[in-house]
Amino acid sequence: MRIGIVGAEEELHTWYVKDILEELGVEVLVVDTLNYPARVTFSIKNGFPLYQEKEVEDIKVFYLRSVFYSHPPYDLEELRKSGKFDYDGWYENYVAERERQSQLTSWLKILTLRGKKLVNPIESFDLHFLKPFQITLLQRNGIPVPKTLVTNNPRELFRFREEVKNIVYKPVAGGAGCQLMNDKDWSKERLQLLYNAPVFFQEYIEGDNVRAYVLGDDVISSGVIYTDNVDYRGHEKRIEKIILPDEIKEICVKAMKICGMAFTGIDLKMKPDGTFVILECNPSPMFIGFEKAIGEPIGKKLAQFLISESY
Ligand SMILES: Nc1ncnc2c1ncn2[C@@H]1O[C@H](COP(=O)(O)OP(=O)(O)OP(=O)(O)O)[C@@H](O)[C@H]1O
Ligand SMILES: [Mg+2]
Repeated sequence: MRIGIVGAEEELHTWYVKDILEELGVEVLVVDTLNYPARVTFSIKNGFPLYQEKEVEDIKVFYLRSVFYSHPPYDLEELRKSGKFDYDGWYENYVAERERQSQLTSWLKILTLRGKKLVNPIESFDLHFLKPFQITLLQRNGIPVPKTLVTNNPRELFRFREEVKNIVYKPVAGGAGCQLMNDKDWSKERLQLLYNAPVFFQEYIEGDNVRAYVLGDDVISSGVIYTDNVDYRGHEKRIEKIILPDEIKEICVKAMKICGMAFTGIDLKMKPDGTFVILECNPSPMFIGFEKAIGEPIGKKLAQFLISESY
């Protein structure tokens, strides 16, 4: 039996899951999206996806670890200082990247069309990029989420301030930190910047950060991530296992399914009164650090799930 992993040989979670699958006797095809188009080839011939000139028809299940799309970085100052960015040819690169993304996305959507199981479907990756849509989808299905305003209009933001106590902001498409609004952010000069691009504003939820991994129909691991920062990422002090109440587990599984995923890492806040709010379902969560801290085999369970879905 073969299982596909969409990612890259040199990407940590790709080879971690590949190793486990191989130990379980499965042959793995790594579909490398990092080195495409320079070193690997993807084709779509009369509706048939080909990778490196070969069909992938025998593979029933693909784990989508990383679809390497090139995204613009947010911190341009850092980028300029690093001297790494090549401004020459940026337009040609932009056009090529657009073409590349179109083929890659189509290739992955065609797998679903051909009856393959993708963990997770490429459509659910859009939900990570389209954060206002994901939060609306969750909210409309009765999942508790923070009050949210996505806008390029300072007047709407002033109205929002009357409804919520503290406000955090983050990029609409994700990929940078989440911060609390401070006095400087309310200055005229800062707010004028909204006319350049919209921002995702949200009610700041007090309490501990919780990460819950959901696979299939179950929460397979969950922990509290202690931090002193608003955004815990890169500032984790300690991770401790937590057993979530059954009704919260059910909400997590429901949220994942609403997002069309079979595996996710959900970011939640546990409020001081013990209630929970869901911030986001991540379509391709990292789990190795968490697994090491908690001592629960998320990778192995994922591999076993991929195998069971292949029959
Ligand atoms: N409304 C909020 N209240 C309190 N903390 C928040 C809130 N939103 C985000 N955070 C903190 O920031 C972290 C990252 O937030 P989230 O995953 O929603 O967006 P993002 O980081 O911009 O998305 P991406 O994963 O695409 O980079 C959360 O796990 C949490 O620690
Ligand atoms: Mg996130």
